[in-house]
This record gives sequence, structure tokens and C-alpha cells, in this order.
Amino acid sequence: MLIRKAPRFRSSEITDVKAYLNRRSFMAGAAALALTPSVARAAAPAPGRPLAATRSPAFSLSEPPTKFEAATTYNNFYEFGVNKDDPARLAGSLKPRPWAVQVDGHVARPKTYEIDELIRLFPPEERVYALRCVEGWSMIIPWIGFPLASLLKRVEPTGKATHVEFTTLLDPAQFPGQRPSFLGFSSLEWPYIEGLRLDEALHPLTLLTVGMYGQVLPNQNGAPVRVVVPWKYGFKSAKSLVRIRLVAEQPRTAWEKAAPHEYGFYSNVNPAVDHPRWSQATERRIGEFRRRPTLLFNGYADQVASLYAGMDLKKHF
Ligand code: MTE
Repeated sequence: MLIRKAPRFRSSEITDVKAYLNRRSFMAGAAALALTPSVARAAAPAPGRPLAATRSPAFSLSEPPTKFEAATTYNNFYEFGVNKDDPARLAGSLKPRPWAVQVDGHVARPKTYEIDELIRLFPPEERVYALRCVEGWSMIIPWIGFPLASLLKRVEPTGKATHVEFTTLLDPAQFPGQRPSFLGFSSLEWPYIEGLRLDEALHPLTLLTVGMYGQVLPNQNGAPVRVVVPWKYGFKSAKSLVRIRLVAEQPRTAWEKAAPHEYGFYSNVNPAVDHPRWSQATERRIGEFRRRPTLLFNGYADQVASLYAGMDLKKHF
């Protein structure tokens, strides 16, 4: 991502201290304790409203999930600032109710859904997905949601639709990062826009997400509804959505507008295609020390590689 200010703490600082001490030597434990003040700065949210969901074994990983505290205090949500702990510190200004999501564009049956109506219509399931960020860190998160395809089929895309455009709420009153005065510069063009090809959006792995860790989404993770695209870098998974539009051209995304040479439209996790400023060959799983090799399509190649058959993934990065 475009980091114009150094993040205030590193991923290794947010490991759950107790687990850390059990696993590591005294020296490593002492280092963790020295770092705990940073953890306190961006506290994990109080438990949210529980959200029941059926577990989907088809989408589960064998690895343990990242600690809830880490997943909710170390992430990107530029509407709250560019530091990793800004979302957790500032997300209290977001009001996820009342909320509506407009689904329109090249569809036969456009509709605006009130958020709780949306959640009632599509029974939620829990899926444990690996999330890989373009900056080289990754997490394992039990998301709760339903296939985006279920919603798209309901509004009946017409033959003209080739892509889906996602739009995050534009409201500087709720998102301090959208105020021109916030940092003295505009980090991105607002609202945050992302997009997928229609076949990517209809793929069964693509999840319209309304919860995580058994509860409704915390504000900093994109309340009340976001997308999760597990085989792409995290920035494709747009948060706090107000509009899902079926369009006839490839959407111009927020990151492409900001830095087109660094953030392409596809953004598939690919260890063989480096970011211009750093390698994508390895990643640091939050809570681990050693970097691990990054997997093509974030480990979902069996399921999604066919979407890109014949494409030069270095060119279409
Ligand atoms: N959505 C919006 N609206 N604004 C953002 O800044 N950041 C993206 C993505 N979605 C972002 C966003 C990036 S870069 C990442 S890595 C993920 O959210 C991180 O959030 P998560 O850990 O909750 O998935």
C-alpha cells in the first residue's frame, strides 16, 4: 500500500502475549512484554452481537485462526487513517445501522436492501479463509457471510454486465480519513472503489461478509457488510459497502487511480509477480516469526486458476 507514514507497530508486536510466552524462549517472551504498550493503544473491540452461522467444512483451513485481537487491531481501512492501528482507534465514528446496500446497474431487478433484510435473506455460513495483504503479512480469519453469487443471481445480471463494481460509503462525518484536513493530504480518491470480473464475482469462494469470529463485523473490519476475495490481495476486499453495481466495463479502482504501476486490477496473490517496491515471494503470518513461502492464488489455485487460463499474469497483475 502507499505508506506515507511509518506504521506505529509491527505485526510481531500483536501476538497474543500468553500464547507467545508458552511457545517461545524467555528471551522471546521478554521481547513481547516490552512491546505490550502498543497493544493497549489500539484495543480489541468489546464482543459484538453474536451471529449464528453454519460451519462450511468445504472452506476451512487446517491452520489455527489468527487471534481476534490481532485481526481487529492491525489492518488497513484508509477511511480511518493510514496507520495499522488507526481503524481500531477511530472506527467508533462509523454507524453501521441504519444501512442500505444498492444493487443495480445492468440487472433486470435492481434493488436496495436494508442490511438486516439482506442478512435474513441469505443464511450465513462460516468460512475460514487465509487473507494475504500486498504488504507481505497474512492472517487466517473465520469470516461469516454468504456467496456474493446468491445476491447477484437474485437481481438477474443482463447480458451487458461484464464486471461488478463495489463502492464504500462516502461520509466524512463518519470517516475522518475522508476529510481533506485529516492528514494534510488526500491518501486515496473517495469513495473507495473496487471491482471484479463478473466470473470472479460469481465464483463460489467470493463471500459477501457480514461477520467474523462468531459475531457481527467490528467497524474496523468493514461493518456492516464487505466483500472477501480469498485468492486476491486484501485491498480487493472492499469494506462498508453501500453499492454493488453491475457494469459493462472494468471499474477504475481506488488503488489503480492512486498508483497504477503498483496495484493492477487483478491483484491475484502470486509469488512470481513482485510488487515494484518489494518481493511477493514470502509472507509473515501474523503471530509467527519466520516468513513462509507465499502460495499462488493464496493457496486456492485448484479452485480459481481456470479463471485465468491463457492470461499472462505478469501483464495482468
Ligand atoms: N476497504 C476500504 N473501504 N478502505 C480500505 O482502506 N483496505 C483494504 C481492504 N478493504 C481498505 C478496504 C486492505 S489494503 C486490506 S489488507 C483489507 O481491507 C484489510 O482489512 P481486513 O483485515 O479487515 O480484511
